[in-house]
Amino acid sequence: MTEYKNVTVMNHPMIQHKLTILRDKNTGVKEFRELVEELAMFMGYEVTRSLPLEEVEIETPVCIAKTKVISGKKLGIIPILRAGLGMVDGMLKLIPTAKVGHIGLYRDPETLMPVEYYCKLPSDVAERDLIVLDPMLATGGSAAAAITFLKDKGARSIRLVNLIAAPEGIKTVVDAHPDVEIFVAAVDEKLNDHGYIVPGLGDAGDRLFGTK
Ligand code: PRP
Ligand code: URA
Repeated sequence: MTEYKNVTVMNHPMIQHKLTILRDKNTGVKEFRELVEELAMFMGYEVTRSLPLEEVEIETPVCIAKTKVISGKKLGIIPILRAGLGMVDGMLKLIPTAKVGHIGLYRDPETLMPVEYYCKLPSDVAERDLIVLDPMLATGGSAAAAITFLKDKGARSIRLVNLIAAPEGIKTVVDAHPDVEIFVAAVDEKLNDHGYIVPGLGDAGDRLFGTK
């Protein structure tokens, strides 16, 4: 894959191990859900690495100490429905005070174009650092549309987190939104004729919610 400076591939062994189990077609709904949540939490560490810190003074049992906390950044987590929902709780474990906005998009199976059907965002979305969640970045149409939508609402700081990306999807998002940092656990080989990621993990929404 072409290297993009705003794409981070998270090749930590724990992430790669869990991703392999997730991909396996014999992994059932319960384990699939647990893994998606765990992977989102692990990826959250890297995604939040650049959050600014400030110094505070506290008293330990031993003495007064100057130490650090995350400075009052306002964060927002934006899952793309449905499959992005599976990543929310993992991310909230790291950032429990984040607000959560939802964008409902599905991919038309014929045209592969994203169709919007729901949106509810925090009212101050323009002032928040946003983390958009979706396990799959295939053609990139859904993620690019969601990010455009957020920008139209005034959002200025957006990070995108996907478990598996196709090179085509990365290119679409980077071309449309070069300001957005993208975090993925794997970049797969290609898309097949139906727009599925190869080798991928199949349909993330169906596997997460048991709808197939
Ligand atoms: C999947 C996935 C992404 C999208 C990726 O959702 O969760 O949102 O496809 O494909 P793209 O990069 O080509 O747009 P889907 O449309 O199947 O909806 P679902 O989550 O409701 O199952
Ligand atoms: N959406 C999915 O859930 N899986 C893919 O491989 C592509 C799009």
